[in-house]
Amino acid sequence: MKTICICNQKGGVAKTTTAVNLAAILAREFGKRVLVIDADSQGNATSFLGGDRERVGVAAMLRRELSDEKPLALQTTNVPGVSLIAGSPDLMDLDLSKAGDGRADVTCLRELRKALEQREKIAAAVKGDERNEKLATVIYGEPFDYCLIDCPPAFNAASSAALIAADAVLIPVKLDAFALEGMTNLMRQIANMRRLNPKLQLLGVLPVMWYRSETIQRAESALRSAGLKVLPRIRRSDRVDDMTYHQQPLIVCSPRSAPCRDYRALASWIVGQERRERIATPACGLARNDSGEDAAAGKPLRGHDVETGKRRPGRPRKGERIATAVCALPRNDREGGEQA
Ligand SMILES: Nc1ncnc2c1ncn2[C@@H]1O[C@H](COP(=O)(O)OP(=O)(O)OP(=O)(O)O)[C@@H](O)[C@H]1O
Ligand SMILES: [Mg+2]
Repeated sequence: MKTICICNQKGGVAKTTTAVNLAAILAREFGKRVLVIDADSQGNATSFLGGDRERVGVAAMLRRELSDEKPLALQTTNVPGVSLIAGSPDLMDLDLSKAGDGRADVTCLRELRKALEQREKIAAAVKGDERNEKLATVIYGEPFDYCLIDCPPAFNAASSAALIAADAVLIPVKLDAFALEGMTNLMRQIANMRRLNPKLQLLGVLPVMWYRSETIQRAESALRSAGLKVLPRIRRSDRVDDMTYHQQPLIVCSPRSAPCRDYRALASWIVGQERRERIATPACGLARNDSGEDAAAGKPLRGHDVETGKRRPGRPRKGERIATAVCALPRNDREGGEQA
């Protein structure tokens, strides 16, 4: 099960839109079994997918309240192939201080992930034996191929739990100057989380609500020159607002819309990337570009002296501030790592 955390502490940047549409496309078009974990107190992913916020979900896990009388609810949704663990308003008061003093269990999603991965082992053990395959599904449940965690617009206990559980983090960004400012912080937080989850990778930065404009193109290239992996963009369209009213993913209500086609391309890249990873994980752990070279190597960072590699004096520009934060990330998270 590949676990992807969709994260940005900035609000309204299409985290939920990305989570529910990716989940729906992975399930409907690629036949994948997908679990959406709603880690946001707003519970937008839960209500969009037709889930029930009252049922036992992420908040109870973080508070260590699960018991025989109060088991975790794995909910079915209005999208076949997509299951859900609900987010609810009581996630709101689980701030980082509660994680610090042990009142919130930030390892809970990692433990859930390990438990769910047992299903894969059992399914592999009975593969080919039709009767036992059916039994295993009834008793243990079908294994999930993907788990997508929709994070809140904050850095709190729930988003920490998500980053500790994930294989990879996907960062939707609306390309304005405010978003770029927040990016520096986010990169530092991701680098910090690696102390608890050393395998956490940056899947990439996903430009959302994209439209042709000079400002947006400038922002996109600022991210690239800061060394970040920038994924193919998701275009802006009113169809996305419509989708929230219809309570149906784009693949159902506007399959030909530009953002739906873009999310489809993203899903296809994610599925392909996983396949490529399985076939050839480079022995040295560095991501390679198409020519097989480690493209990030040897590139001087903006604002740094080419000869000495040291930072040039003067006030850093926005792209340079992000670049400094990106330095804290391992090389395969940067531009030049595996590309879309
Ligand atoms: N590609 C797009 N084109 C136009 N509007 C979009 C697009 N993607 C998202 N939106 C709109 O942006 C708004 C915010 O989206 P969404 O709720 O997914 O963001 P979010 O990051 O999850 O927000 P929050 O931080 O509050 O959880 C919604 O009104 C949504 O319809
Ligand atoms: Mg949201």
